[in-house]
Amino acid sequence: MRCSRGVCYIENVPPMKLKRIPVKSSAGHYPVVSGAGAIRRAAREIAALGRFSSVHVVSSPKVWRAVGQTVQRGLQLSKGGAIHLFDDAESAKNLRSVEQITRSLCRAGADRQSLVVAVGGGVVGDVAGFAAAVFLRGVKLVHIPTTLVSQVDSSIGGKTGVNLPEGKNLVGSFYPPQLVLTDPELLRSLSDREFRGGLAEIIKHAIIADAEMFAILDKDMDKVLLRDRRALGFLIPRNAEIKARVVSRDERESGLREILNFGHTFAHALESVTKYRRYQHGEAVAWGMMAAAFLGHELGLTRADDVSRIVALIRRLGPLPPWPRVPATAMLRAMHSDKKTRAGVLRFVLSTCIGEARSYDTVSPNIVERVLHFTPRLISASNRFSLRRHG
Ligand SMILES: NC(=O)c1ccc[n+]([C@@H]2O[C@H](COP(=O)([O-])OP(=O)(O)OC[C@H]3O[C@@H](n4cnc5c(N)ncnc54)[C@H](O)[C@@H]3O)[C@@H](O)[C@H]2O)c1
Ligand SMILES: [Zn+2]
Repeated sequence: MRCSRGVCYIENVPPMKLKRIPVKSSAGHYPVVSGAGAIRRAAREIAALGRFSSVHVVSSPKVWRAVGQTVQRGLQLSKGGAIHLFDDAESAKNLRSVEQITRSLCRAGADRQSLVVAVGGGVVGDVAGFAAAVFLRGVKLVHIPTTLVSQVDSSIGGKTGVNLPEGKNLVGSFYPPQLVLTDPELLRSLSDREFRGGLAEIIKHAIIADAEMFAILDKDMDKVLLRDRRALGFLIPRNAEIKARVVSRDERESGLREILNFGHTFAHALESVTKYRRYQHGEAVAWGMMAAAFLGHELGLTRADDVSRIVALIRRLGPLPPWPRVPATAMLRAMHSDKKTRAGVLRFVLSTCIGEARSYDTVSPNIVERVLHFTPRLISASNRFSLRRHG
Protein backbone atom coordinates (compact mmCIF):
# COMPACT_ATOMS: atom_id res chain seq x y z
CA MET A 1 0.00 0.00 0.00
CA ARG A 2 1.05 3.64 -0.39
CA CYS A 3 1.42 5.95 2.56
CA SER A 4 1.55 9.63 1.78
CA ARG A 5 4.11 11.66 3.72
CA GLY A 6 4.69 8.76 6.03
CA VAL A 7 1.06 8.77 7.22
CA CYS A 8 -0.59 5.39 6.88
CA TYR A 9 -4.35 5.13 7.25
CA ILE A 10 -6.72 2.33 6.37
CA GLU A 11 -8.63 4.82 4.14
CA ASN A 12 -5.56 5.04 1.92
CA VAL A 13 -5.83 1.34 1.19
CA PRO A 14 -7.16 0.69 -2.31
CA PRO A 15 -10.53 -1.14 -2.45
CA MET A 16 -10.24 -4.83 -1.88
CA LYS A 17 -9.47 -7.21 -4.67
CA LEU A 18 -8.83 -10.92 -4.41
CA LYS A 19 -5.16 -11.47 -3.73
CA ARG A 20 -3.20 -14.58 -4.64
CA ILE A 21 -0.28 -15.12 -2.30
CA PRO A 22 2.14 -17.87 -3.29
CA VAL A 23 3.53 -20.18 -0.62
CA LYS A 24 6.55 -22.36 -1.30
CA SER A 25 6.70 -25.82 0.23
CA SER A 26 8.73 -28.98 -0.29
CA ALA A 27 5.71 -30.41 -2.12
CA GLY A 28 5.47 -27.46 -4.53
CA HIS A 29 3.80 -24.05 -4.49
CA TYR A 30 0.26 -23.40 -3.39
CA PRO A 31 -1.72 -20.16 -3.32
CA VAL A 32 -3.56 -18.38 -0.55
CA VAL A 33 -6.51 -16.75 -2.30
CA SER A 34 -7.66 -14.00 0.01
CA GLY A 35 -10.39 -11.37 -0.09
CA ALA A 36 -14.09 -10.65 0.19
CA GLY A 37 -15.96 -12.95 -2.16
CA ALA A 38 -13.22 -15.60 -2.26
CA ILE A 39 -15.67 -18.21 -1.01
CA ARG A 40 -17.88 -17.65 -4.05
CA ARG A 41 -14.97 -18.75 -6.22
CA ALA A 42 -14.40 -21.97 -4.26
CA ALA A 43 -15.81 -24.35 -6.88
CA ARG A 44 -13.81 -22.70 -9.69
CA GLU A 45 -10.57 -22.62 -7.69
CA ILE A 46 -10.94 -26.29 -6.76
CA ALA A 47 -11.79 -27.30 -10.31
CA ALA A 48 -8.52 -25.65 -11.40
CA LEU A 49 -6.59 -28.03 -9.09
CA GLY A 50 -7.57 -31.07 -11.13
CA ARG A 51 -10.23 -33.77 -11.12
CA PHE A 52 -11.27 -35.36 -7.85
CA SER A 53 -13.37 -38.48 -7.47
CA SER A 54 -15.23 -36.83 -4.56
CA VAL A 55 -15.02 -33.79 -2.29
CA HIS A 56 -15.22 -34.31 1.50
CA VAL A 57 -15.77 -31.37 3.79
CA VAL A 58 -14.39 -31.75 7.31
CA SER A 59 -15.70 -29.21 9.80
CA SER A 60 -17.28 -28.93 13.25
CA PRO A 61 -20.98 -28.66 14.16
CA LYS A 62 -20.40 -25.13 15.51
CA VAL A 63 -18.51 -23.87 12.45
CA TRP A 64 -20.90 -25.55 10.05
CA ARG A 65 -23.90 -23.93 11.75
CA ALA A 66 -22.21 -20.55 11.36
CA VAL A 67 -20.85 -20.73 7.81
CA GLY A 68 -22.06 -24.03 6.33
CA GLN A 69 -24.64 -22.55 3.99
CA THR A 70 -22.25 -19.99 2.55
CA VAL A 71 -19.47 -22.53 2.14
CA GLN A 72 -21.74 -25.13 0.61
CA ARG A 73 -23.00 -22.60 -1.92
CA GLY A 74 -19.42 -21.68 -2.80
CA LEU A 75 -18.29 -25.27 -3.15
CA GLN A 76 -21.32 -26.28 -5.25
CA LEU A 77 -20.93 -29.80 -3.93
CA SER A 78 -22.16 -32.43 -6.32
CA LYS A 79 -22.72 -36.12 -5.74
CA GLY A 80 -20.13 -38.42 -4.26
CA GLY A 81 -18.75 -36.42 -1.37
CA ALA A 82 -19.97 -35.89 2.16
CA ILE A 83 -19.77 -33.53 5.10
CA HIS A 84 -17.95 -34.89 8.13
CA LEU A 85 -18.39 -33.02 11.40
CA PHE A 86 -16.32 -33.51 14.55
CA ASP A 87 -16.03 -31.58 17.84
CA ASP A 88 -13.41 -28.84 17.42
CA ALA A 89 -12.88 -28.11 21.12
CA GLU A 90 -9.15 -28.01 21.92
CA SER A 91 -9.80 -30.99 24.23
CA ALA A 92 -10.96 -33.01 21.19
CA LYS A 93 -7.83 -32.20 19.18
CA ASN A 94 -6.60 -35.75 19.57
CA LEU A 95 -5.99 -39.04 17.80
CA ARG A 96 -9.55 -40.17 18.52
CA SER A 97 -10.85 -37.36 16.31
CA VAL A 98 -8.41 -38.39 13.57
CA GLU A 99 -9.77 -41.93 13.79
CA GLN A 100 -13.34 -40.64 13.74
CA ILE A 101 -12.70 -38.53 10.62
CA THR A 102 -10.75 -41.18 8.71
CA ARG A 103 -13.35 -43.86 9.48
CA SER A 104 -16.09 -41.51 8.37
CA LEU A 105 -14.15 -40.87 5.12
CA CYS A 106 -13.91 -44.64 4.62
CA ARG A 107 -17.59 -45.18 5.16
CA ALA A 108 -18.40 -42.37 2.70
CA GLY A 109 -16.32 -44.13 0.02
CA ALA A 110 -13.42 -41.65 -0.14
CA ASP A 111 -10.48 -42.92 -2.19
CA ARG A 112 -6.99 -41.72 -3.12
CA GLN A 113 -8.40 -39.29 -5.68
CA SER A 114 -10.73 -37.65 -3.17
CA LEU A 115 -10.22 -34.13 -1.84
CA VAL A 116 -10.53 -33.11 1.81
CA VAL A 117 -11.69 -29.53 2.42
CA ALA A 118 -11.06 -28.38 6.00
CA VAL A 119 -13.55 -25.67 7.00
CA GLY A 120 -12.92 -24.12 10.41
CA GLY A 121 -10.42 -22.59 12.77
CA GLY A 122 -6.96 -23.84 13.65
CA VAL A 123 -8.28 -26.93 15.41
CA VAL A 124 -10.26 -28.11 12.39
CA GLY A 125 -7.34 -27.22 10.09
CA ASP A 126 -4.75 -29.07 12.20
CA VAL A 127 -6.88 -32.19 12.79
CA ALA A 128 -8.45 -32.44 9.33
CA GLY A 129 -5.05 -31.66 7.80
CA PHE A 130 -3.46 -34.50 9.74
CA ALA A 131 -6.35 -36.83 8.81
CA ALA A 132 -5.80 -35.93 5.13
CA ALA A 133 -2.06 -36.57 5.54
CA VAL A 134 -2.53 -40.08 6.89
CA PHE A 135 -5.74 -41.26 5.20
CA LEU A 136 -4.67 -43.72 2.47
CA ARG A 137 -1.14 -42.29 3.03
CA GLY A 138 -2.29 -38.87 1.90
CA VAL A 139 -5.19 -37.32 0.01
CA LYS A 140 -5.23 -33.78 -1.33
CA LEU A 141 -6.22 -30.99 1.03
CA VAL A 142 -7.75 -27.50 0.79
CA HIS A 143 -8.13 -25.15 3.75
CA ILE A 144 -11.05 -22.76 4.14
CA PRO A 145 -10.13 -21.01 7.42
CA THR A 146 -12.93 -19.41 9.43
CA THR A 147 -11.16 -17.74 12.39
CA LEU A 148 -8.83 -14.77 12.26
CA VAL A 149 -5.99 -16.93 13.61
CA SER A 150 -6.49 -19.56 10.95
CA GLN A 151 -6.82 -16.98 8.17
CA VAL A 152 -3.56 -15.22 8.98
CA ASP A 153 -1.58 -18.01 10.58
CA SER A 154 -2.47 -21.67 11.04
CA SER A 155 -3.78 -22.50 7.55
CA ILE A 156 -0.48 -21.35 6.00
CA GLY A 157 2.72 -23.34 6.36
CA GLY A 158 1.58 -26.94 6.30
CA LYS A 159 1.80 -27.83 9.98
CA THR A 160 -0.87 -30.33 10.98
CA GLY A 161 -1.30 -32.37 14.11
CA VAL A 162 -3.03 -33.23 17.35
CA ASN A 163 -2.37 -33.11 21.08
CA LEU A 164 -1.43 -35.97 23.39
CA PRO A 165 -2.29 -36.05 27.09
CA GLU A 166 1.45 -35.35 27.51
CA GLY A 167 1.35 -32.07 25.63
CA LYS A 168 0.11 -29.94 22.73
CA ASN A 169 0.72 -30.71 19.06
CA LEU A 170 3.03 -33.63 19.85
CA VAL A 171 1.84 -35.82 16.96
CA GLY A 172 1.61 -34.44 13.47
CA SER A 173 3.19 -33.91 10.11
CA PHE A 174 4.08 -31.22 7.63
CA TYR A 175 1.36 -31.60 5.04
CA PRO A 176 0.91 -28.58 2.78
CA PRO A 177 -2.50 -27.97 1.23
CA GLN A 178 -3.18 -27.44 -2.48
CA LEU A 179 -4.97 -24.18 -1.79
CA VAL A 180 -6.04 -21.89 1.05
CA LEU A 181 -9.21 -19.92 0.43
CA THR A 182 -9.67 -17.02 2.84
CA ASP A 183 -12.78 -14.86 2.97
CA PRO A 184 -13.22 -12.23 5.71
CA GLU A 185 -17.00 -12.61 5.38
CA LEU A 186 -16.65 -15.97 7.13
CA LEU A 187 -15.49 -14.16 10.28
CA ARG A 188 -18.78 -12.39 10.88
CA SER A 189 -20.05 -14.98 13.34
CA LEU A 190 -16.75 -15.21 15.23
CA SER A 191 -16.94 -14.22 18.92
CA ASP A 192 -15.24 -11.04 20.04
CA ARG A 193 -12.85 -12.95 22.25
CA GLU A 194 -11.69 -15.17 19.39
CA PHE A 195 -11.42 -12.17 17.08
CA ARG A 196 -9.24 -10.25 19.54
CA GLY A 197 -7.11 -13.35 20.04
CA GLY A 198 -6.46 -13.31 16.31
CA LEU A 199 -5.53 -9.64 16.50
CA ALA A 200 -2.81 -10.53 19.02
CA GLU A 201 -1.16 -12.71 16.36
CA ILE A 202 -1.50 -9.84 13.87
CA ILE A 203 0.26 -7.51 16.31
CA LYS A 204 2.93 -10.22 16.62
CA HIS A 205 3.46 -10.17 12.85
CA ALA A 206 3.75 -6.38 12.94
CA ILE A 207 6.35 -6.48 15.71
CA ILE A 208 8.53 -9.12 14.08
CA ALA A 209 8.24 -8.15 10.43
CA ASP A 210 6.20 -5.09 9.51
CA ALA A 211 6.80 -1.69 11.14
CA GLU A 212 4.42 -0.01 8.69
CA MET A 213 1.56 -2.31 9.64
CA PHE A 214 2.35 -1.60 13.29
CA ALA A 215 1.87 2.13 12.60
CA ILE A 216 -1.40 1.44 10.78
CA LEU A 217 -2.70 -0.68 13.65
CA ASP A 218 -1.69 2.10 16.03
CA LYS A 219 -3.80 4.62 14.14
CA ASP A 220 -6.73 2.49 13.15
CA MET A 221 -7.18 -0.06 15.93
CA ASP A 222 -10.70 1.27 16.64
CA LYS A 223 -11.80 0.44 13.11
CA VAL A 224 -10.09 -2.92 13.24
CA LEU A 225 -11.88 -3.80 16.49
CA LEU A 226 -15.18 -2.98 14.79
CA ARG A 227 -14.21 -5.41 12.00
CA ASP A 228 -14.34 -2.64 9.42
CA ARG A 229 -14.43 -4.37 6.02
CA ARG A 230 -11.69 -2.26 4.55
CA ALA A 231 -9.47 -2.81 7.55
CA LEU A 232 -9.90 -6.58 7.36
CA GLY A 233 -9.49 -6.51 3.59
CA PHE A 234 -6.10 -4.94 4.17
CA LEU A 235 -4.95 -6.83 7.26
CA ILE A 236 -5.81 -10.41 6.36
CA PRO A 237 -3.84 -10.69 3.10
CA ARG A 238 -1.04 -8.55 4.52
CA ASN A 239 -0.61 -10.98 7.41
CA ALA A 240 -1.03 -14.04 5.23
CA GLU A 241 1.83 -12.60 3.15
CA ILE A 242 4.06 -12.29 6.20
CA LYS A 243 3.38 -15.86 7.29
CA ALA A 244 3.77 -17.09 3.70
CA ARG A 245 7.10 -15.28 3.30
CA VAL A 246 8.52 -16.75 6.50
CA VAL A 247 7.39 -20.35 5.94
CA SER A 248 8.40 -20.25 2.29
CA ARG A 249 11.97 -19.57 3.40
CA ASP A 250 11.97 -21.99 6.31
CA GLU A 251 9.26 -24.63 6.05
CA ARG A 252 10.56 -26.88 8.82
CA GLU A 253 11.40 -24.28 11.44
CA SER A 254 15.14 -24.70 11.34
CA GLY A 255 15.77 -20.98 11.71
CA LEU A 256 13.75 -18.03 10.43
CA ARG A 257 10.34 -19.59 11.17
CA GLU A 258 11.21 -19.39 14.85
CA ILE A 259 10.54 -15.65 14.84
CA LEU A 260 6.85 -16.49 14.58
CA ASN A 261 7.19 -17.63 18.18
CA PHE A 262 7.59 -14.06 19.46
CA GLY A 263 5.82 -13.93 22.84
CA HIS A 264 5.13 -17.65 22.69
CA THR A 265 7.75 -18.94 25.14
CA PHE A 266 6.01 -16.88 27.82
CA ALA A 267 2.54 -17.62 26.41
CA HIS A 268 3.02 -21.38 26.50
CA ALA A 269 4.17 -21.18 30.11
CA LEU A 270 1.13 -19.06 31.04
CA GLU A 271 -1.19 -21.54 29.32
CA SER A 272 0.51 -24.51 30.92
CA VAL A 273 0.49 -23.22 34.53
CA THR A 274 -3.20 -22.33 34.17
CA LYS A 275 -3.95 -25.75 32.62
CA TYR A 276 -5.14 -24.16 29.37
CA ARG A 277 -8.28 -22.91 31.12
CA ARG A 278 -7.70 -19.24 31.78
CA TYR A 279 -6.59 -17.79 28.48
CA GLN A 280 -7.70 -17.86 24.92
CA HIS A 281 -4.35 -18.53 23.18
CA GLY A 282 -4.10 -14.98 21.77
CA GLU A 283 -4.61 -13.56 25.27
CA ALA A 284 -1.64 -15.56 26.54
CA VAL A 285 0.33 -14.36 23.49
CA ALA A 286 -0.64 -10.77 24.33
CA TRP A 287 0.83 -11.13 27.84
CA GLY A 288 3.76 -13.05 26.36
CA MET A 289 4.60 -10.28 23.89
CA MET A 290 4.63 -7.67 26.65
CA ALA A 291 6.94 -9.90 28.70
CA ALA A 292 9.16 -10.47 25.64
CA ALA A 293 9.35 -6.70 25.11
CA PHE A 294 10.40 -6.22 28.74
CA LEU A 295 12.96 -9.01 28.43
CA GLY A 296 14.36 -7.41 25.28
CA HIS A 297 14.64 -4.15 27.16
CA GLU A 298 16.35 -5.78 30.15
CA LEU A 299 18.94 -7.22 27.76
CA GLY A 300 19.49 -3.85 26.09
CA LEU A 301 17.97 -5.01 22.78
CA THR A 302 14.55 -3.32 22.76
CA ARG A 303 14.37 0.44 23.26
CA ALA A 304 12.09 1.81 25.99
CA ASP A 305 10.14 3.73 23.36
CA ASP A 306 9.43 0.55 21.38
CA VAL A 307 8.45 -1.29 24.55
CA SER A 308 5.95 1.46 25.35
CA ARG A 309 4.47 1.35 21.85
CA ILE A 310 4.19 -2.45 21.95
CA VAL A 311 2.50 -2.44 25.34
CA ALA A 312 0.16 0.41 24.40
CA LEU A 313 -1.01 -1.34 21.23
CA ILE A 314 -1.56 -4.65 23.00
CA ARG A 315 -3.54 -2.95 25.77
CA ARG A 316 -5.97 -1.66 23.15
CA LEU A 317 -7.15 -5.22 22.59
CA GLY A 318 -8.94 -4.83 25.93
CA PRO A 319 -8.48 -6.27 29.40
CA LEU A 320 -6.72 -9.61 29.64
CA PRO A 321 -7.42 -12.39 32.14
CA PRO A 322 -5.02 -11.70 35.01
CA TRP A 323 -1.50 -13.05 35.24
CA PRO A 324 -1.59 -16.22 37.37
CA ARG A 325 -0.58 -16.13 41.01
CA VAL A 326 2.21 -18.66 40.69
CA PRO A 327 5.86 -18.12 41.57
CA ALA A 328 8.15 -17.12 38.72
CA THR A 329 10.11 -20.32 39.33
CA ALA A 330 7.03 -22.40 38.44
CA MET A 331 6.65 -20.47 35.18
CA LEU A 332 10.32 -21.01 34.44
CA ARG A 333 9.87 -24.76 34.99
CA ALA A 334 6.96 -24.74 32.54
CA MET A 335 9.19 -23.00 29.98
CA HIS A 336 11.82 -25.68 30.36
CA SER A 337 9.34 -28.43 29.59
CA ASP A 338 8.13 -26.69 26.40
CA LYS A 339 8.85 -28.83 23.34
CA LYS A 340 10.59 -25.86 21.70
CA THR A 341 13.28 -25.94 24.38
CA ARG A 342 16.40 -27.51 22.89
CA ALA A 343 18.81 -29.44 25.12
CA GLY A 344 17.47 -27.64 28.19
CA VAL A 345 18.32 -24.19 26.78
CA LEU A 346 15.52 -21.62 26.76
CA ARG A 347 14.97 -19.83 23.46
CA PHE A 348 13.38 -16.41 23.18
CA VAL A 349 12.42 -14.38 20.16
CA LEU A 350 13.20 -10.76 20.93
CA SER A 351 12.56 -7.61 18.97
CA THR A 352 15.54 -5.44 18.17
CA CYS A 353 13.21 -2.72 16.88
CA ILE A 354 9.57 -2.77 15.83
CA GLY A 355 9.45 -4.68 12.55
CA GLU A 356 12.42 -6.93 13.33
CA ALA A 357 13.07 -9.90 15.59
CA ARG A 358 15.63 -12.62 16.21
CA SER A 359 15.83 -15.76 18.24
CA TYR A 360 18.19 -15.86 21.25
CA ASP A 361 19.32 -18.86 23.26
CA THR A 362 21.75 -17.17 25.59
CA VAL A 363 19.33 -15.49 27.97
CA SER A 364 20.12 -16.04 31.63
CA PRO A 365 17.26 -17.73 33.55
CA ASN A 366 17.76 -15.16 36.33
CA ILE A 367 16.80 -12.31 34.03
CA VAL A 368 13.81 -14.29 32.75
CA GLU A 369 12.73 -14.91 36.32
CA ARG A 370 12.96 -11.20 37.08
CA VAL A 371 10.85 -10.36 34.02
CA LEU A 372 8.28 -12.98 35.03
CA HIS A 373 8.11 -11.33 38.41
CA PHE A 374 7.73 -7.72 37.30
CA THR A 375 5.64 -8.05 34.11
CA PRO A 376 2.27 -8.27 35.92
CA ARG A 377 3.38 -5.49 38.26
CA LEU A 378 4.37 -3.13 35.45
CA ILE A 379 1.04 -3.65 33.75
CA SER A 380 -0.87 -2.15 36.62
CA ALA A 381 -4.39 -3.05 37.66
CA SER A 382 -5.63 0.18 36.10
CA ASN A 383 -4.45 -1.20 32.78
CA ARG A 384 -1.96 1.64 32.63
CA PHE A 385 1.58 0.80 31.91
CA SER A 386 4.63 2.52 33.27
CA LEU A 387 8.25 1.87 32.45
CA ARG A 388 9.49 4.14 35.24
CA ARG A 389 12.14 1.75 36.45
CA HIS A 390 13.24 1.02 32.92
CA GLY A 391 13.19 4.37 31.15
N1 LIG B 1 -0.78 -25.29 12.21
C1 LIG B 1 -0.27 -24.16 12.65
O1 LIG B 1 0.71 -23.62 12.10
C2 LIG B 1 -0.92 -23.47 13.80
C3 LIG B 1 -0.63 -22.13 14.10
C4 LIG B 1 -1.32 -21.51 15.12
C5 LIG B 1 -2.26 -22.20 15.85
N2 LIG B 1 -2.51 -23.51 15.55
C6 LIG B 1 -3.53 -24.27 16.29
O2 LIG B 1 -4.80 -23.66 16.03
C7 LIG B 1 -5.66 -23.88 17.13
C8 LIG B 1 -6.37 -22.59 17.47
O3 LIG B 1 -7.06 -22.18 16.34
P1 LIG B 1 -8.10 -20.95 16.37
O4 LIG B 1 -7.54 -19.84 17.15
O5 LIG B 1 -8.47 -20.75 14.95
O6 LIG B 1 -9.30 -21.49 17.24
P2 LIG B 1 -10.28 -22.75 17.15
O7 LIG B 1 -10.10 -23.55 15.95
O8 LIG B 1 -10.14 -23.41 18.48
O9 LIG B 1 -11.69 -22.01 17.08
C9 LIG B 1 -12.12 -21.20 18.14
C10 LIG B 1 -13.64 -21.29 18.32
O10 LIG B 1 -14.27 -20.57 17.27
C11 LIG B 1 -15.26 -21.39 16.65
N3 LIG B 1 -15.35 -20.91 15.27
C12 LIG B 1 -14.50 -21.12 14.25
N4 LIG B 1 -14.88 -20.43 13.17
C13 LIG B 1 -16.01 -19.76 13.52
C14 LIG B 1 -16.87 -18.87 12.83
N5 LIG B 1 -16.62 -18.45 11.59
N6 LIG B 1 -17.94 -18.39 13.50
C15 LIG B 1 -18.20 -18.75 14.78
N7 LIG B 1 -17.41 -19.59 15.48
C16 LIG B 1 -16.32 -20.08 14.85
C17 LIG B 1 -14.77 -22.80 16.84
O11 LIG B 1 -15.84 -23.71 16.76
C18 LIG B 1 -14.16 -22.71 18.23
O12 LIG B 1 -15.17 -22.84 19.21
C19 LIG B 1 -4.81 -24.44 18.25
O13 LIG B 1 -5.08 -25.82 18.37
C20 LIG B 1 -3.39 -24.22 17.78
O14 LIG B 1 -2.50 -25.22 18.24
C21 LIG B 1 -1.87 -24.15 14.54
ZN1 LIG C 1 0.14 -18.40 18.52
